[in-house]
Amino acid sequence: MTIESTAAPASSNKDRVLIFDTTLRDGEQSPGATMTFEEKLEVADMLDAMGVDIIEAGFPIASEGDFEAVSAVARRVKRATVAGLARAAIKDIERCAEAVRHAVNPRIHTFISTSPVHMKFKLQKSAEEVLEMVTAQVTRARNHVPDVEWSAEDGTRTEMDFLCRTVEAAIRAGATTINIPDTVGYTVPEEYEAIFRTVRERVPNSDKAIFSVHCHNDLGLAVANTIAGLRGGARQIECTINGIGERAGNAALEEVVMALRTRADILPYHNGIESTMLTRASKLVSAVTSFPVQYNKAIVGRNAFAHESGIHQDGMLKNAQTYEIMTPESVGVSKTSLVMGKHSGRNAFRTKLKEMGYELGDNGLEDAFKRFKDLADKKKVVYDDDIEALVDDQIGHAGERIKVEALTVIAGTMGPQTATLTLSIDGNHITKQATGNGPVDAIFNAIHALVPHTATLELYQVHAVTQGTDAQAEVSIRLIENGKSVTAKGADPDTLVASARAYVAALNKLMVKRLKSAPEPMAGQRLKP
Ligand code: KIV
Ligand code: ZN
Repeated sequence: MTIESTAAPASSNKDRVLIFDTTLRDGEQSPGATMTFEEKLEVADMLDAMGVDIIEAGFPIASEGDFEAVSAVARRVKRATVAGLARAAIKDIERCAEAVRHAVNPRIHTFISTSPVHMKFKLQKSAEEVLEMVTAQVTRARNHVPDVEWSAEDGTRTEMDFLCRTVEAAIRAGATTINIPDTVGYTVPEEYEAIFRTVRERVPNSDKAIFSVHCHNDLGLAVANTIAGLRGGARQIECTINGIGERAGNAALEEVVMALRTRADILPYHNGIESTMLTRASKLVSAVTSFPVQYNKAIVGRNAFAHESGIHQDGMLKNAQTYEIMTPESVGVSKTSLVMGKHSGRNAFRTKLKEMGYELGDNGLEDAFKRFKDLADKKKVVYDDDIEALVDDQIGHAGERIKVEALTVIAGTMGPQTATLTLSIDGNHITKQATGNGPVDAIFNAIHALVPHTATLELYQVHAVTQGTDAQAEVSIRLIENGKSVTAKGADPDTLVASARAYVAALNKLMVKRLKSAPEPMAGQRLKP
């Protein structure tokens, strides 16, 4: 066995697999994962730079905010195709066409449900009506752009005869990509492979379109199903960074890419992703969504390349290939060489961030450096995890309208615990004092008095970034308002300051979410698929 290189292995064009990233659409539909306009652009830039073939930038009809974001991504992205999602409705397709029209390569991705359960209960339409809608929606989309993707929503629970009829109709109407999504994460690899094989064999015009996989992870099979779909003849993979997405999420881009690369000996499919950017992309998406990456997550988890047991460490020292099937460097984790402390200068800090996969602009670097210096004054040793928490906190809070400016708390056995908090709201400083049942409650009451809202606190979680009593605290908060949830994080050596920062970050995200005024769903169709 040899360790893989980061360059995609050369093989024939028929095995070139297109990577369609839907972090900005399906990923953003994860409960709590809201991205601001600027954050979406940052993620789009990253996806374009790492070699994603198609970026699904959003669902333009969903809100003014979604429309603006898709249009801005379309104007900005240099290389990748930019897709927008549209239901089988005239206004959806028109809005989507308008949003993607400035892209170098625009795509309209339109979908309708084809399974008996969806047609009967969700659409309340007969199979024949749905078939007609397929032709109409694809024809309309093709009048706007030459690149049209059609998806059979709930495809894996669709009767095979009907699936073949709809696919044939979509291709006849001009669809260039056919997606058969496992919308509810129900299929298993053998079945998914067979679906693609059968449809491609039975549909007479199937050679006129590229087939696509789109797998949800409800049974933890999204990546396995994705690979099975390729065996069945699909050549486009829909996936998201860190596997975020509806419910249990989508197939994780980094897992699919590294599985194909590491097992190129039996999986002869190649793609254009620069794998050394995977860690950076994961960190960026985690920071902007405030969704932590689980420690043992494949490829990008903190422990993915950590060897704890003595036997493993011994083997690793003798030869890394004993326990490593891919190198950390191949996914962008470099062996960190610089130990940081209060004497470290700006250049060393910049190099360190680069080693860790971060690239900040001049202003961002300056702010992060200042916070690092403050931290190094307070803390004996600054670990990589400390720097990661600090930078993620900074990325997650960039451009916020409400900021924590100052906080003083009186706590201890002699109540009442009191918080005096100054917030800057759109640049205006306002101070409030509040008491509470404990210091955190007092802080949250002060925030409530300064920023009245109806959201309720659903989750409050504190964890220490490193060990020791001087460790930084990272606080995660989830707020819910009118059924919409947002998650945010705050980090600081002071747990109470971290709590205030996290709560305020969640309120900022909630404001963004409120701006997304959703239009009426069409009869029988939910707005977010
Ligand atoms: O899961 C799904 O079916 C979707 C479609 C819109 C492709 O996200
Ligand atoms: Zn989906």
